[in-house]
Amino acid sequence: MTKPRVAVIGAGTMGRGIAYVSLLAGCDVRLHDAQAGAVSQAARAIDELFAKGVQRGKLTAADHADAEKRLHAETALDAAVRDADVVLEAVVEDLEVKQRLFADVERAAPSNALLGSNTSSLSIAQIASALTRPERLVGMHFFNPVHAMKLVEVVTHGDSTDIAERAVEFARTLGKEPIVVRDSPGFASSRLGVVLGLEAMRMLEQGVASAEDIDKAMELGYNHPMGPLKLTDLVGLDVRLAIAEYLHATLGPGGGGAQYNPPKILRDKV
Ligand code: NAI
Repeated sequence: MTKPRVAVIGAGTMGRGIAYVSLLAGCDVRLHDAQAGAVSQAARAIDELFAKGVQRGKLTAADHADAEKRLHAETALDAAVRDADVVLEAVVEDLEVKQRLFADVERAAPSNALLGSNTSSLSIAQIASALTRPERLVGMHFFNPVHAMKLVEVVTHGDSTDIAERAVEFARTLGKEPIVVRDSPGFASSRLGVVLGLEAMRMLEQGVASAEDIDKAMELGYNHPMGPLKLTDLVGLDVRLAIAEYLHATLGPGGGGAQYNPPKILRDKV
């Protein structure tokens, strides 16, 4: 079966990771970024990932050489998406930037190309409102580092099951495990992950147990690979606070928003 031709827009942390797993899956990849030098920097990082794979015996030198030929740097957006079967966006987390980008992508990409956004928090419906056919857009939320994290959240809006099915299939082509989530604040992963982290902080505040023991409760009692407080530190307290405030405001009192009210300890530390 021929592999889909993939265009990745945005060559930062996530874009280069998505490009790498697409190359690993045998796809042709066109990588574009608005910032000069970003794509060549990403290409070097991708090259290093392949080299490490070869060193560890997971890939052959021929795999590496073959992948190199399938990665194309594109300075123009139009050229990047012109022949794409799938366009994945991983540019900055800014609604207007993503809206403008997808309006341009829609004009330049084939009319049947799957359009996916890797937004971690924005509403897919709001991004899609900039398209003449908003139903074409789906959320494809990858996790960092992309090559190591199995999950992709396929975020749907409206009632196009066809697009969601295509996104699920494409995620599987990349060796990922997709879940399907309706477009709603925090999708599934942040909504669940953040509430656990906030509750752990409230427990620490109330002196229920030490930070180490709260983490151990989930690591040893529930087999979580990392406790909620360690995970909060890893993600970054400022990032967690921003998401908590966003979920508190958007879910509202009737939708479960109250539990996202950031604890004092979190506000104090940011
Ligand atoms: P980043 O800052 O590393 O990379 C963003 C790239 O987009 C930059 O190279 C920038 O030059 C480029 N860019 C900005 N505007 C552009 C435009 N109009 N056209 C083309 N390129 C443009 O950001 P990162 O961390 O890779 O995040 C990208 C997206 O992925 C964001 O929406 C973020 O919320 C989401 N995300 C991030 C995760 C993370 O852990 N970093 C995890 C999951 C999702």
